[in-house]
Amino acid sequence: MDSVCSPVNGHHAAAEDAAGRNGGALKKLRSFPIGADEVRREFGHHDPSVARINNGSFGSCPASVLAAQQRLQGLWLRQPDDFFFNELQPAILRSRQVIKSLINADHVEEVSIVDNATTAAAIVFQRVQRAFQEGIYDRGDAVVLLHYAYGSVKKSAHAYVARVGAKVVEVPLPFPVTSEEEVVGEFRKALEVAKDGGRRKVRLAVIDHITSMPSVVIPVKRLTKICREEGVEQVFVDAAHALGNVEIDIREIGADFYTSNLHKWFFCPPSVAFLYCRRSDASTDVHHPVVSSEYGKGLAIESGWIGTRDYSAQLVVPEVMDFVNKFEGGINGIMKRNHEKVVEMGKMLAGAWGTCLGSPPEMSCSMIMVGLPGCLRIASDEDAQKLRRYLREEFRIEVPTYHNATIHGEEALLDLTSSITGYVRISHQVYNSEEDYYRLRDAINKVVKGGITCQDFPSN
Ligand SMILES: Cc1ncc(COP(=O)(O)O)c(C=O)c1O
Repeated sequence: MDSVCSPVNGHHAAAEDAAGRNGGALKKLRSFPIGADEVRREFGHHDPSVARINNGSFGSCPASVLAAQQRLQGLWLRQPDDFFFNELQPAILRSRQVIKSLINADHVEEVSIVDNATTAAAIVFQRVQRAFQEGIYDRGDAVVLLHYAYGSVKKSAHAYVARVGAKVVEVPLPFPVTSEEEVVGEFRKALEVAKDGGRRKVRLAVIDHITSMPSVVIPVKRLTKICREEGVEQVFVDAAHALGNVEIDIREIGADFYTSNLHKWFFCPPSVAFLYCRRSDASTDVHHPVVSSEYGKGLAIESGWIGTRDYSAQLVVPEVMDFVNKFEGGINGIMKRNHEKVVEMGKMLAGAWGTCLGSPPEMSCSMIMVGLPGCLRIASDEDAQKLRRYLREEFRIEVPTYHNATIHGEEALLDLTSSITGYVRISHQVYNSEEDYYRLRDAINKVVKGGITCQDFPSN
């Protein structure tokens, strides 16, 4: 296993690059059904001046899928009544069936299509909120979520359930992280706190499959199993980044609710996500926040009509399958190659900067955290944002940056000149080339060489 915090040997990584990995990858690509030129054409609408190593935030959509979406929009505009009565619901069902197979769900009724993971979280939290409001849950019953839960999910926990009496307990996670055991240990401890010696019921655990920032793949299957053993009533996996990024076997994971976007790593146009609700008594009381004439017919049907709007993004999932199947190994092949490449590029960057990765490769996906040189003096979230902006404006590089203030849940007293206080989260998707990462390497080296620190950047 790679040690997370021992600096990566730059010469070794550089020697591998010199051995022509890039050329090798291109040669391999040529023998696939889809060639490098076609990949470039599919993403020809990307700004060519930008090194986009941030697929994680907003994803990407190839031209062939966008064309399919536009065709559907045209059909709607041409004869909306016909489209509404004859096309829309069968097309949504087709997309749900594709998703059901991809995630190995038992029934298509368990799969609903919603706009995004934020909407899915609202659906789950509103169910819990109703249980508090209707006296099914007692004031003080607990809801557990990770400290690194996504901002909107944390706010949802407060807006929907803390306000009606839930005790929200956060699981402090270590970062940088060296093993799954560390995560499992912290999770067990937090569950003990939440249960308060058996005096409190834990009604819901919210577990990220891949935390957003810092990005770490969480052992969701193990944590869900622990929840079952410890009597947690329901588990909601926020897997906003998962579909097209890590393997999903919903039956194996065993959660009650699971959501993933399709617009991040599954090449859909914005906005498409699914929410899986395992068949149970509780899942019959799950509703879309926008109530329409379909209310009460089950979440999948409710979600299929939330008033007049553009549904075209939800209908192109079969065309996305056609696109991914042009690549060797389909979506699994894409995932595997993205992971291998992002790890390789992460090591190359860490080696060049004398830093380290934020997690072992096996706890990363198509994204990985790479430590930034301590001499950049990233001392706050604002500093990290200033650096991100500087990279965009000066070097045309799009990459999220992160300030790491805590180690093992405690404020770290770090010597800012030598320790790693900041990270970049790099992504790899099929349109990326090694040049994108070399541009980042050289930009940071230039900043370091110029003696520039985050304190020199203007405030955002
Ligand atoms: C873990 C996690 N949850 C939820 C979201 C929200 O996704 P969306 O903006 O598509 O609703 C994100 C977005 O990056 C995320 O990373």
